[in-house]
Amino acid sequence: MLRVEEISKRFKKNGRTVLDHLDLSLEKGEFCAVMGGSGSGKSTLLAVVAGFLKPDEGHVFLDGKDLYVLSDKELSSVHRSRIGYVPQSNILLKNYTVMENIVSPYTDGEKEQVLKEKAAVILSEMGIADLADRFPYELSGGEQKRVCLIRALLMDPEILIADEPTTGLDAVTGDIILRFLDTYAKSGKIILAATHDEHSKALATRVLTL
Ligand SMILES: Nc1ncnc2c1ncn2[C@@H]1O[C@H](COP(=O)(O)OP(=O)(O)O)[C@@H](O)[C@H]1O
Ligand SMILES: [Mg+2]
Repeated sequence: MLRVEEISKRFKKNGRTVLDHLDLSLEKGEFCAVMGGSGSGKSTLLAVVAGFLKPDEGHVFLDGKDLYVLSDKELSSVHRSRIGYVPQSNILLKNYTVMENIVSPYTDGEKEQVLKEKAAVILSEMGIADLADRFPYELSGGEQKRVCLIRALLMDPEILIADEPTTGLDAVTGDIILRFLDTYAKSGKIILAATHDEHSKALATRVLTL
């Protein structure tokens, strides 16, 4: 279970309080859509919950353990297998193929061939099975977005945090991604997604408006 308790974040540069004592609890199976205009703090919230941006106040608990008291090693283990995070911009290694981008964060200690087979299954479910050997510059934005999602999903994290997974995509691609996320949540996972998309709002079990 994921519990966010009274988190606040202020950026000194503009002096604005972006998150102000925000609470959120999510149970397995929930799909939470984070909505709100540009600059309302969606990306900030997601980065805080993912463990990448320390809040000024408050706590993020994963099964009762505060993410921000973990050692770097413990936190990196959380990021390896328990929390998948997809940032707003598509960040891929440009000299790696799609398949290499997806499996390389995990190959240390894991059987590469097993990971590749698993990646191939998800690539196919996301409709981009034929792109495994391409390089990022050969992909459209929507294809890159799906690769970033698959990379975050490869170890079946309990929590998937996705920052605008469908923004800028055509309706068909957006629906493929949303259906995938919906099925993933229903398999007992937690999804926290920033979105402007009315379709995600319809699928969400909870909507948080900032
Ligand atoms: N690193 C930062 N330093 C200063 N201000 C920031 C930083 N990151 C975000 N902000 C500000 O915080 C506000 C919320 O940003 P963000 O979380 O990216 O919003 P959203 O994702 O909803 O568009 C904006 O006003 C933005 O300028
Ligand atoms: Mg954002």
